[in-house]
Amino acid sequence: MTIKEQKEIIITELQSISESPILEATELIIFATDLDRSKILYSQNEQLSSAEQRLIKKCVAKRKKGVPLQYILGEWEFYSLPFKVGKGVLIPRADSELLVDLVLEEVGCDEQKTLLDLCSGSGALGIAVAKNAPNLTVTLVEKSRKAFRYLKENISLNKSKAKAVRADIFKWKPKEPSDIVICNPPYITKDEMSKLQKEVKMEPTAALFGGKDGLKFYRYLSGNAPKFLKSGGKMYVEIGYKQASEVKALFESSGFEQVEVFKDLSGNDRVVSAALK
Ligand SMILES: C[S@@+](CC[C@H](N)C(=O)[O-])C[C@H]1O[C@@H](n2cnc3c(N)ncnc32)[C@H](O)[C@@H]1O
Repeated sequence: MTIKEQKEIIITELQSISESPILEATELIIFATDLDRSKILYSQNEQLSSAEQRLIKKCVAKRKKGVPLQYILGEWEFYSLPFKVGKGVLIPRADSELLVDLVLEEVGCDEQKTLLDLCSGSGALGIAVAKNAPNLTVTLVEKSRKAFRYLKENISLNKSKAKAVRADIFKWKPKEPSDIVICNPPYITKDEMSKLQKEVKMEPTAALFGGKDGLKFYRYLSGNAPKFLKSGGKMYVEIGYKQASEVKALFESSGFEQVEVFKDLSGNDRVVSAALK
């Protein structure tokens, strides 16, 4: 079977369960063949080995059971960097790149600062910031044992100098507060949890569920900010697209100023930033 024929079969198989079957077919073929991404267009008439076809068949069967493509591939790109992902860790989302952009803009050339990435999961946010601001001292904090393994692996994979701490942010206290705190916490509400897409349900509940109203982590971070953040320092949190006004109000009533909301490329409220007085 040629690559072109195989691609058509995958597209047909995934059409009813995927929003992007063409992209998924291409990714699965690259995964199974190890072909260079830039050469795939010119290799459409190349024959696939039977081992490659068997591997693709297995992957398609997993996909049809709802396993996210990223877990099948075992690696996903965020901010043009590779991140190992799999069961037990949240897949980094392109929408979160906005938070990294905002932090890098804030840091500018003055990189002699400290940054804390709370609820760091795969480490996508903190590692992306650390790679692009190499003099920044970055610490990543994650509670889940499984996610922490991916975090450590991703720090090595990206040859980052960032430090990882396995801890529960509700109990942990850093020795010193940082200049910048970033956090993409679990923020899905109880009602939303039951309505999640099949693929998202395969991601860890601990990475998604933010308490009954989805605001548990924002309440704690805004209410206990001096523990993590220096006076005059800035906090950046990712939010659910309906949470801007509630999160903004939490920060405004907890000793923060310059509370701002930023939209992602789809036009949804995505990040709240605030400076501690
Ligand atoms: C929404 S995910 C974000 C992961 C990553 N920052 C990203 O943007 O891809 C939230 C992460 O918080 C972690 N987490 C949940 N409760 C925590 C807690 N109490 N302390 C530290 N981490 C926690 C979860 O295990 C999960 O990895």
